[in-house]
Amino acid sequence: MTRPRLGVCYYPEHWPVSLWREDARRMKEAGLDIVRLGEFAWSRLEPKEGEYDFAWLARAIEVLHGEGLDIVLGTPTATPPRWLVAKMPDMLAVDRNGRVRKFGSRRHYCFSHEGYARESDRIVTALAEHFGRLPAVVAWQTDNEFGCHDTVESYSAAARAAFSLWCRRKYETIDALNRAWGNVFWSMELSGFDDIDLPDLTVTEANPSHLLDFQRFSSDQVVAFNRRQAEILRRLSPGRAILHNFMGSFTAFDHHKVGDDLDAAAWDSYPLGFLERSRNSEEFKLRYMRVGDPDYQAFHHDLYRGCGRGRFWVMEQQPGAVNWAPWNPAPAAGAVRLWTHEAFAAGAEVVSYFRWRQAPFAQEQMHEGLLLPDSQPAPALDEAARVARELETLGPVTASRADVALVFDYESVWAWDIEPQGEDFSYFELVFAFYRGLRRAGLSIDVVPASAEAIANRAFVLAPGLFRADPALVGALRRSGAAVLLGPRSGSKTADFQIPPRLPPDRFRELVDVTVTRVESLRPGASVPVEKARGRCCAGEKNSSLRRA
Ligand code: GAL
Repeated sequence: MTRPRLGVCYYPEHWPVSLWREDARRMKEAGLDIVRLGEFAWSRLEPKEGEYDFAWLARAIEVLHGEGLDIVLGTPTATPPRWLVAKMPDMLAVDRNGRVRKFGSRRHYCFSHEGYARESDRIVTALAEHFGRLPAVVAWQTDNEFGCHDTVESYSAAARAAFSLWCRRKYETIDALNRAWGNVFWSMELSGFDDIDLPDLTVTEANPSHLLDFQRFSSDQVVAFNRRQAEILRRLSPGRAILHNFMGSFTAFDHHKVGDDLDAAAWDSYPLGFLERSRNSEEFKLRYMRVGDPDYQAFHHDLYRGCGRGRFWVMEQQPGAVNWAPWNPAPAAGAVRLWTHEAFAAGAEVVSYFRWRQAPFAQEQMHEGLLLPDSQPAPALDEAARVARELETLGPVTASRADVALVFDYESVWAWDIEPQGEDFSYFELVFAFYRGLRRAGLSIDVVPASAEAIANRAFVLAPGLFRADPALVGALRRSGAAVLLGPRSGSKTADFQIPPRLPPDRFRELVDVTVTRVESLRPGASVPVEKARGRCCAGEKNSSLRRA
């Protein structure tokens, strides 16, 4: 049981030192308790190689803590400074078109570059040694938004070498790999692990088995990168929660696996930006323009609570208009308050607004904060202060296990992204459609990984669209006694991305007594009579794939 707390993201390095104390006082006055600092500050923490300057951050922490604020420190590895890139230019990531991702924004590193990983170890160690035992520091955030700006996959020389090694460990012999990937097709057979290339720049689509293994590998690289930081922080800063801030609708790595190395998950909630970027209809977007999709935030709270094994924060909460969506409306009056309470009701321990003061310079100048650039209050400041007063009258939140478990499986996202078969098929949207239905029925939901443990002791388990029939999971589903709903495409591939000998595969046959004889995907609006039953089945606006049994 925890008392929910409010926080804010603050960048002391953006403001004159003379403002810090007043900022801290006003944060506390608004009822904020937590401040996140430092996650992009590498160029100020180490202006030249090996020359650390931690004095300013120590001073900022002292000022903020002096006003009663607790600190979350971010490791600054999302923004390697210019001198570091100059020293090892091959640390830069390479995109799928073979273009080097240049310095000049953020997230330009390649997860597979061992030299960069050592630099990450070094700066994290230095920070943790310096700040890790301060009473003010209550938590750490590793890096920032792994994968943001499409940065999980890199097609660099370092990634190629690491992928070849990953394949060698997985398959042991090249024959085994050739069989698993079906490389006899189109003469793609390889004669050694050194032959393995990355699946970019092929003439037509790359082999789906190759693509799926590359995604698994890329995800493992993120897990390993995060784990290195978490291990250093755990050793040098004992007792502090280690978190990472995940994103909305982001699926390029396995968040459950990253979550296993964290004490709690966190995510960054931008309801209006997400809605504008979504595939919803124009009508839907206009309707919810100022409050966001009513199910979207709840889905992610329930998903990331699962990734944090019951513990999660909202590390960045949208406070006003943002700068990065196609359209950037301001929230309705009361929406910021609503989002904050909704997160707490879902079990969030902390909701932290992004950001304290709007920056009048650089990339995010059109992004609102709790203060305007001239330090006048922005509308969200009052809403945050109101929530803080309301929290004092509310009891602590107790997280309880829901009767309903909805399985969300990252490998299934990758598999169906690789082979959607119908143009608009999306595993994420499929699971989310099930989620909307459950919410409409007024049910509390845990969004869980595809594991036996996660589905144990539930009344109702939904596992739509799992691409393969994992024996442990199917066995657990069969034994669970829960009502089970599987949905389309379940188990229609093997782990190697091949069609199993029978559909559904033997495992799923223990759960469903249908035989799939034919598969087609239909364009939106197509309508098919349902055989031996009354009625018709219509391909929807979003999911046009139908399977006939
Ligand atoms: C997040 C990011 C922040 C900031 C914010 C703007 O994705 O973590 O650093 O860029 O978006 O909305």
